[in-house]
Amino acid sequence: MRFRSKKNKVTLRHGIIFKEYPDESALFREALALEYLDAAGLAVPALFGREDNALKMEYIPGVPYADLVEELSFEQAEALAAWLAEYHGLTSLLRGDCNLRNFLWSEGRCVGVDFEDEPMMGDGEIDMGKILAYAVTYSPPLTEAKAASAHLLLRAFVNLNGPLDLDLIKSAYLTEIAAMNSRRKQYAVHPHSAALFFDKFSQEKIQN
Ligand SMILES: Nc1ncnc2c1ncn2[C@@H]1O[C@H](COP(=O)(O)OP(=O)(O)O)[C@@H](O)[C@H]1O
Ligand SMILES: [Mg+2]
Repeated sequence: MRFRSKKNKVTLRHGIIFKEYPDESALFREALALEYLDAAGLAVPALFGREDNALKMEYIPGVPYADLVEELSFEQAEALAAWLAEYHGLTSLLRGDCNLRNFLWSEGRCVGVDFEDEPMMGDGEIDMGKILAYAVTYSPPLTEAKAASAHLLLRAFVNLNGPLDLDLIKSAYLTEIAAMNSRRKQYAVHPHSAALFFDKFSQEKIQN
């Protein structure tokens, strides 16, 4: 079985995930991150070892959050927010690649995958804005159901982290959408529609 991946080759063989990297430095970054995060108790796949240009890791059975955003439950939103808060608390770094294929809903919890990118510093709100940008733009973008899911995610972020800088979340959300628009022409979302959509799903009383 082969998974969707642009840069790498990710396959499931005899119950084990093989992730092959064209770029060896990405392999090293991912191996170090997985070892560190797993040892710290964060829900990530266990690293089994290296074979040639591949890492072997635990297979996490589950559904990518990308496939849940048309009907996200509050429990699923909370699990993602909790994973992110734990990641921020442990590393003081940003998650960076907040593509919702990198978060799996598995056996009642959220598990994070894909740590090959160089980590960056910044406020946690930046990751939250990026997550919201992905949540509302998978095809079909900006639906009522996605507004409900984004609202649940934002509520879960606030419940876990306390009052947040909503302007910073919105600006990270819009920045990510602008980056997507230049990447994937097919599902381009107009920036003004995206901004109005953010105001709509964040409008109801969220900050307490
Ligand atoms: N350990 C794992 N268990 C289950 N599925 C995985 C695992 N690692 C990756 N996947 C699946 O493979 C996809 C691609 O892997 P990922 O590490 O995100 O590579 P890429 O850097 O190419 O995005 C993921 O979106 C996920 O669906
Ligand atoms: Mg990925």
